[in-house]
Amino acid sequence: MTVIGTHDVVIVGAGLAGMRAAVEAARGGVDVAVVTKLHPVRSHSGAAEGGINVALGNVSDDSTEGHTYDTVKGSDYLADQDAARIMCEDAVGDILELENMGCFFSRLPNGRIAQRPFGAAGRPRTAFAADITGHVLLHVMYEQLLKHGVTVYEEFYGIDLATDVNGEVIGVTSWDIVNGGLKTVLGNATIIATGGMGRMYHGTTNAWACTGDGMAMAFRIGAPLKDMEFMQFHPTTLKANGVLITEGCRGEGGVLRNSLGERFMEKYAPNAMELASRDVVSRAEWTEIMEGRGVDGCVLLDLTHLGADRINRALPGSRELALDYAGVDAIDEPIPVRPGAHYQMGGVHTDSNGQTPIPGLWASGEAACVSVHGANRLGGNSLLEAVVFGRRSGDHAAATVKGRTKPDAGAAAASMARTQAKVDGMLSATGPRADELRVALADTMYENCGVFRTGEGMAVAKTRIAEIRATFDAGVLLHDKGTSFNNDITYALEVGAMLEMGDVLTQCGLERNESRGGHTRLDFPERNDEKWLVHSLATRTADDPTIQVGTHPVTITDYQPAIRTY
Ligand code: FUM
Repeated sequence: MTVIGTHDVVIVGAGLAGMRAAVEAARGGVDVAVVTKLHPVRSHSGAAEGGINVALGNVSDDSTEGHTYDTVKGSDYLADQDAARIMCEDAVGDILELENMGCFFSRLPNGRIAQRPFGAAGRPRTAFAADITGHVLLHVMYEQLLKHGVTVYEEFYGIDLATDVNGEVIGVTSWDIVNGGLKTVLGNATIIATGGMGRMYHGTTNAWACTGDGMAMAFRIGAPLKDMEFMQFHPTTLKANGVLITEGCRGEGGVLRNSLGERFMEKYAPNAMELASRDVVSRAEWTEIMEGRGVDGCVLLDLTHLGADRINRALPGSRELALDYAGVDAIDEPIPVRPGAHYQMGGVHTDSNGQTPIPGLWASGEAACVSVHGANRLGGNSLLEAVVFGRRSGDHAAATVKGRTKPDAGAAAASMARTQAKVDGMLSATGPRADELRVALADTMYENCGVFRTGEGMAVAKTRIAEIRATFDAGVLLHDKGTSFNNDITYALEVGAMLEMGDVLTQCGLERNESRGGHTRLDFPERNDEKWLVHSLATRTADDPTIQVGTHPVTITDYQPAIRTY
């Protein structure tokens, strides 16, 4: 148990939000470090394929007002409208800055940044680099990280936030994946940017690394989690493994068909069709499949009419993924797809500078909930959120702590000792293997907390998760007791975090007796603005793991809730 570094700002997670925060904090003239379980360019932001939204108006008369409106409507009116406006207005400067940093966006013949249609967007607004946009952004941001001299603690799995005697966050305690043992990195400001938690489901687009670690860390010390019942299901994922086939395919003109060859979106969203919002398209697909018009548990995404040239130019990655993982060449045949868990709209409750109510703690990206996505995120707004609110949180954290004396190594001794005791207990425990528990959790989530939900199903999930958690807490067997690259222990820690977050998701889902965005209840099929136009806020204390669910007001500035059709 060692302190290996002391900085002004410490960022946990090195995806797009984490790196963007780090770069901005470094520009603010403070000493910055990133602690990450993966090499930065292996982060899950790289899987965001289709693009990033920005009202550049390069192919239409688009405006930031239109972007804000679409975001609010898409959120089923649960987004905070002041935050959504900040995101959409900041987008223009932020994306042009990314371009100046070296992002090679796809171009129009006149040399301007190209923009493609995406779901629930009133104009073609999504800037892209073919269908590898996230990958391109990650690489550019990593260059910036190196350029700005940010210290990178790579392959350190963050377990717990380090706190001082007053409960103020002063860094993070991690498992050193390469050498073993606990290592703490201290800082006056800590920013959680650890991404989502989709791995608690079967059939997810999320990388193996998306296990809710940062949300769980923050929750454990009392940080509120907002809107956790809202898991987004992306309409086009591969059945075998949940791999994402980008919404860009539909943006380029791809259509969805059922087993009868019908373009079934005509029934569900006659205007926007395949480019309705994700919650609408996922519900439509699920309905088709459940009513017997699916094809082996899927519907068909047909790109064949686009032709080989367009597919190879605009969607090469999607063609390759479908070939590799479904054995289908999209040039010749439709790709079988179905909804898969994709994005956690909720997260650590923050303001528009990423600040949480816990002193010393900020959050940004998917791990945070500002809230700009409300009950349903628009495709292309996730990379944008990471860039805009990553920058804002890095800037704010740096400005807040600049000039402060750095934390003393002794200040975190008690919290580090608690983490050490937890890990020691895990290394000596016996019981089932953690992977059995993850599969049990994923079965439970998939069956009971999917595209359609019921109170009965979520109650089953809650009970089942409590049982699995009790088994986990009694001990799981780690075959590997070693130090170097002990994936057994990091995997078990990830399963623990997912169990905690699955518990929160189900409890918040049980409380919200209405249907809104990605939370569709068959037993409460209507949106209920009178009672539920509020954020849910889940809390626990550092000493008592009992989850309490309260509410928090939604900020409504310009757009009154209206019936949402596409
Ligand atoms: O479909 C996609 O390319 C995903 C993008 C997103 O979730 O923003």
